[in-house]
Amino acid sequence: MTPTELSARLREVVGEAGLVTEPDQLAGYLTDWRDAYRGNAAVVVRPATTAEVAAVVSLCRDAGVALVPQGGNTGLCGGAVPDASGDQVVLSLTRLRRIREVDPANQTITVEAGVVLQQVQQAAAAVDRFFPLSLGAEGSCTIGGNLSTNAGGTGVLRYGTMRDLTLGLEVVLPDGRIWHGLRGLRKDNTGYDLKHLFIGAEGTLGVITAAVLKLYPALHGRATAWIALPSPQAAVDLIEILRARGGDRLTAFEIMSRQSVDFVLRHVPGTRDPFTSPHDWYALVELGDTRTDADLDGLLEAGLAEAFDRGLALDAVVASGSAQVAALWALREGISEAQNHEGPSLKHDVTVPVSSIAALVERTDRALQEAVPGIRIVVYGHIGDGNLHYNLSKPVDGDDEEFRSRADELARIVYDSTSSFDGSISAEHGLGQSKRDVMADYKDPVALDLMRGLKDLLDPVGLMNPGKVLPD
Ligand code: FAD
Ligand code: MLT
Ligand code: ZN
Repeated sequence: MTPTELSARLREVVGEAGLVTEPDQLAGYLTDWRDAYRGNAAVVVRPATTAEVAAVVSLCRDAGVALVPQGGNTGLCGGAVPDASGDQVVLSLTRLRRIREVDPANQTITVEAGVVLQQVQQAAAAVDRFFPLSLGAEGSCTIGGNLSTNAGGTGVLRYGTMRDLTLGLEVVLPDGRIWHGLRGLRKDNTGYDLKHLFIGAEGTLGVITAAVLKLYPALHGRATAWIALPSPQAAVDLIEILRARGGDRLTAFEIMSRQSVDFVLRHVPGTRDPFTSPHDWYALVELGDTRTDADLDGLLEAGLAEAFDRGLALDAVVASGSAQVAALWALREGISEAQNHEGPSLKHDVTVPVSSIAALVERTDRALQEAVPGIRIVVYGHIGDGNLHYNLSKPVDGDDEEFRSRADELARIVYDSTSSFDGSISAEHGLGQSKRDVMADYKDPVALDLMRGLKDLLDPVGLMNPGKVLPD
């Protein structure tokens, strides 16, 4: 089948509205939101139903053409960007946007892959339920992308990752068949749990078209604090204090270095430092409760008093009112965007046991400063899960290209350090194209072997998102 014939056949399946071939309309699908990865494609296909996805996959399989699934295109590893050849077809899932069912009694919501995360949160809130996945890109990332990257974000501490939030999936397999695994059961021990193959597979094993997700009781009480800390170890100790006092009510605990906050204050309009003088480290902490009358402010203040007594906190502000809560979260959520204004941001998303966090920061910072004196280390993240974003910016007077040319060397420093604490080189963003080669040096070879075996079983011809996840 020639490319022109394939386009014509795809158009028969998805209609005019489902096919993009004009260069100016294609552009947005061929690069990621940071413009860190660029690819080529002559066709973007946008099916609107699961049956259409299955027909598209079958057509591309018959034509021997590779598919690159894409949701909101907010991923940070280039997983949704096609390669440079121009031969791959981008399969955009954003027209699969129906919320199929909300079942408050079963505490579930069934949604299609292209539904935006924020819409799921809102649909849950409308029936007095809570969908806990929350991340900076929630206004544009999709459930299909969240599932395919096993997204994490700020609620993992209490509710787990996307894997923990999923009960069932509907998937179009690389051979065009549909796996109907859309069940809302909490228990189902009938053999292998297949949904976990597709969650976190970054589109390399099939196309997720819908999912049954877990809902939780809505949180009616909330307390939020911004705290200055002397060190990452103080943050780890503070988590212990708040857990001992608040148990499951601790719903978020984020850490930020001063460098991270500096970038936000410089580049995100409307943000301001809650304190009068700078500190080396900050934490953003949130407690939540289903009851409106729970004294969460009191609980937080008591925990902070203990932290001050033990020298773990240097200053703190407990938010009063939703505007202040939003202002504090803006300081956290603005980091990713703010760093883009400072030249290339080299992103590393690592995880170690929480108990090793302080030693990790100490060892990694030292090695990075030795390699590039003056390097700006934008370290922050979901410390309660042991997850730090070790993002790097060039020294103040550094050159963009020179800094970028050292990306591999600097990544090695971060990953070797992480590995020395038995950590992982990808906590929540996935591997995409950016980390797939380096993965070969950090992943257990038997695990890699098993992954390759699964890929061969499900996608023997290698047409699902080739060049991603698995090292050659
Ligand atoms: P895309 O970027 O479109 O795709 C991601 C991967 O999934 C690609 O490999 C793609 O091929 C595959 N894919 C997409 N849809 C499907 C499908 N239906 N079937 C099969 N494969 C599919 N991530 C976190 O985990 N935690 C965070 O805290 C976080 N914060 C972020 C903050 C900002 C400001 C930004 C820009 C990103 C952040 N991310 C975070 C990364 C990103 O938002 C998540 O990875 C998100 O889950 C990606 O969703 P998406 O719809 O944009 O997926
Ligand atoms: C975040 O938590 O803000 C993102 O996952 C990290 C990033 O953008 O590097
Ligand atoms: Zn993150």
